[in-house]
Amino acid sequence: MKVVAFVSSPRKGGNTDRLVDEILAGAAEVGHEVEKIYLSDYALTPIDSVYGDELEWTDSHQGVADELIDKMVAADGVILGSPVYWFSISGLMKLFIDRWALYQRGEQRLMDLTPGKKMVVVLAMADSESEYVEAVLAPLRYAARWLKMQWAGEIVATDVTEPGDVARCPDVLAQARALGQSL
Ligand SMILES: Cc1cc2nc3c(=O)[nH]c(=O)nc-3n(C[C@H](O)[C@H](O)[C@H](O)COP(=O)(O)O)c2cc1C
Repeated sequence: MKVVAFVSSPRKGGNTDRLVDEILAGAAEVGHEVEKIYLSDYALTPIDSVYGDELEWTDSHQGVADELIDKMVAADGVILGSPVYWFSISGLMKLFIDRWALYQRGEQRLMDLTPGKKMVVVLAMADSESEYVEAVLAPLRYAARWLKMQWAGEIVATDVTEPGDVARCPDVLAQARALGQSL
């Protein structure tokens, strides 16, 4: 099984990154092939295509997304790791997800290539109150359902602000490793 993680925090080594590493370490322990991708290494821009009557979509930056989509399609498990920004996923993660729409037309639609793949979501957030976490997760649950992917779980670290803070959350890190092992 191949597991690919997309990390949208611009802070390499930050809380999201650390949690994703833990899941990937668990997955590697049970023999899965793992890969981590920092979305900040890619020139993702807002999608510039629109729904129209014509079937052709255009997007001047599609090439960048092609590479990421290829990795997603080749994987059996997909991890989306995002810091919580303004009660939501980060803008960079949203840019990536928006681009999935480009692959919903044509001969090979993304939704025909993703059924059965596992999706895991990782969130890192400064708030200790997590009352709105379900609202952050909801669009991702719908996206997984749209793509007929299997929701394999979420890891949410609350009360983490500075890059190293998640090290103070051994329970969440253990949960992340166990989730990776279960993939
Ligand atoms: C632009 C911005 C908006 C943020 N908004 C929230 C928020 O709404 N709720 C929250 O709990 N933390 C918020 N935070 C804090 C981050 O979620 C927190 O620092 C997290 O640990 C960052 O993860 P990282 O280390 O992976 O970058 C925000 C941080 C930034 C930079």
